Amino acid sequence: MRWKFGTPITLETENYILRSIEPAHIPGEIVAWFADKEVMRYMNDPMGMDNNQLSRFFSNYKNTGNFALLIHDKATKKPVGIFRIYIDFKNEMAITSIMIGDKDFWGAAVVLEVRERIIQFLFSAMKIEKICGYVRSRNLPALFNYSRQHFKKEGVRIRQIRNREGGFDDVVEFALFKEDWLEQKRVEYAALKTKEET
Ligand SMILES: CC(C)(COP(=O)(O)OP(=O)(O)OC[C@H]1O[C@@H](n2cnc3c(N)ncnc32)[C@H](O)[C@@H]1OP(=O)(O)O)[C@@H](O)C(=O)NCCC(=O)NCCS
Repeated sequence: MRWKFGTPITLETENYILRSIEPAHIPGEIVAWFADKEVMRYMNDPMGMDNNQLSRFFSNYKNTGNFALLIHDKATKKPVGIFRIYIDFKNEMAITSIMIGDKDFWGAAVVLEVRERIIQFLFSAMKIEKICGYVRSRNLPALFNYSRQHFKKEGVRIRQIRNREGGFDDVVEFALFKEDWLEQKRVEYAALKTKEET
């Protein structure tokens, strides 16, 4: 993959294209997602930002250590969500976060497909050794997705963050190590080979 540090990035999967958000061109869909109570329920970002506020907000993602990628559905060309990455190069670690803003795409396995590509990007191109994801313990679909992709639960932070209902949420911390991911790929490949040969 050819990419110059600090320039917008494009990643592709079978069904989706991910491109760095351009702060000067915030699509109306993003404004709508940040105002949607259901979408924002378990997100830490401020709700209800207007176009200018979102433009300032996303200008902090400079394609160096921090990336905010808009996920487009290839078939309809519609934006469906946002994937964010925060890299700590010194410690060879990255934190990721996903939002599927278009609720028609909930239950469509976008997360699994897109995150697999991001994992590959971070472990291969960016030479990261550990990927982390932090999930509020009430966010069941997000918890299931991390477990399904073989992230290990490292711990639970109790009463860690305010929720939008006035209370506090626990936060589950997940992590995936490069060596475990490579081993998992090796096992999957071996199983595929065996299936092909029988
Ligand atoms: C969290 C989010 C990304 C999940 O979207 P999704 O992957 O389309 O979610 P799904 O409905 O497919 O659920 C994922 C899995 O959890 C399971 N699941 C969902 N709700 C469940 C419940 N209440 N009990 C048991 N399992 C549940 C689903 O069956 C599915 O498992 P499967 O793949 O084995 O079928 C999406 O809801 C979203 O973007 N929400 C807003 C932003 C957000 O919360 N982001 C995450 C911050 S950590």
